[in-house]
Amino acid sequence: MTLLVHLGGIDEQEWADAFQAKMPDLKIVTSSDAFDPAEIKYLYVWKPRDDVFDGLDNLEAIFSLGAGVDPILKHPHLPQNVPITRFVDETLTQCMSDYVIANVTMHHRELTHYRHEQRQHFWTQYYPAPATDIAVGVMGLGQLGLDAAQKLTMLGYQVNGWSRRPKEIEGVTSFSGDAGFDQFLAATDILVNLLPLTSDTRDILNRRTFEKLRRDVMPHGPVMINAARGGHQDEDDVVACLKDGTLGAASLDVFKTEPLPKDSPLWDLDNCYITPHIAAISSFEGGVELVARQIESYERDGTLQHVVDPVQGY
Ligand code: NDP
Ligand code: OXD
Repeated sequence: MTLLVHLGGIDEQEWADAFQAKMPDLKIVTSSDAFDPAEIKYLYVWKPRDDVFDGLDNLEAIFSLGAGVDPILKHPHLPQNVPITRFVDETLTQCMSDYVIANVTMHHRELTHYRHEQRQHFWTQYYPAPATDIAVGVMGLGQLGLDAAQKLTMLGYQVNGWSRRPKEIEGVTSFSGDAGFDQFLAATDILVNLLPLTSDTRDILNRRTFEKLRRDVMPHGPVMINAARGGHQDEDDVVACLKDGTLGAASLDVFKTEPLPKDSPLWDLDNCYITPHIAAISSFEGGVELVARQIESYERDGTLQHVVDPVQGY
């Protein structure tokens, strides 16, 4: 029984050493070690390379280092019927809510406007509306969206949530499915994307979506915050909408191509706030604990937590 650590762009040995310290009886190899692929029972993976599944004929479970499993599900050689589990961890959730709250409150308090005023040495007293007047719409009410939505309600915001299935969450107005999308947008001033990237959600952040947002509350136009995947946004539309006022501002943590190419027009827009995919990281401690728990449970009774539904894509 062997765990293969295959992490594109990440120090595999550091993870392998930490797994070994936690699970001394388990054989652990990294993708650069020499190993017999037929020995591999478990795979811990991030940004899988083309050959990752070659010869893994006895693979029984795939543990994703990411909360988002889109790079695994789209792999051309993904074995059928091997369960895939997502990364779910309190610290990851906390960090994402930190990112969301920092950006929502920044936009609500009109920081783009005041930064512009500051540069011109202008002292114009204009008072942003209270949080209770602002509606934040959270797309995706899973592990991350739910926590962010609940924390936003505690700050006084009106909170709308959009998910595939309807939800009952105290303080959150639930909208669901395609039928609820336009109503959700029409009631939202600050749109926060925490959806998984699937065939249904690709490019969902586009001009048609932005044009449906509520326009009469935020004085400089509605705001879009994307902390999920670059594949959710049509970047040409984002640029055009930030320039023509369809969007007042945007905060983007993720991009179609990462790192964001040096010549992307997004870099130079005053009303666009760019961070390099750092909203929330899967912590080392959390990952080691989670995988150890998953293996212990699977060896005990064949159960796993946070299993992905490959048909829904998340
Ligand atoms: P979950 O799987 O827990 O939640 C997904 C949510 O999206 C669910 O509420 C689901 O609805 C909803 N959803 C899925 N498809 C649709 C659809 N077609 N229409 C409406 N709602 C839909 O995911 P997490 O909260 O754990 O993570 C979300 C994403 O965040 C990840 O997939 C990843 O891409 C991204 N991420 C980004 C990070 C960063 O640093 N920038 C860090 C970590 C994650 P329902 O509840 O009805 O099933
Ligand atoms: C993730 C991410 O999916 O870091 O966990 O983007």
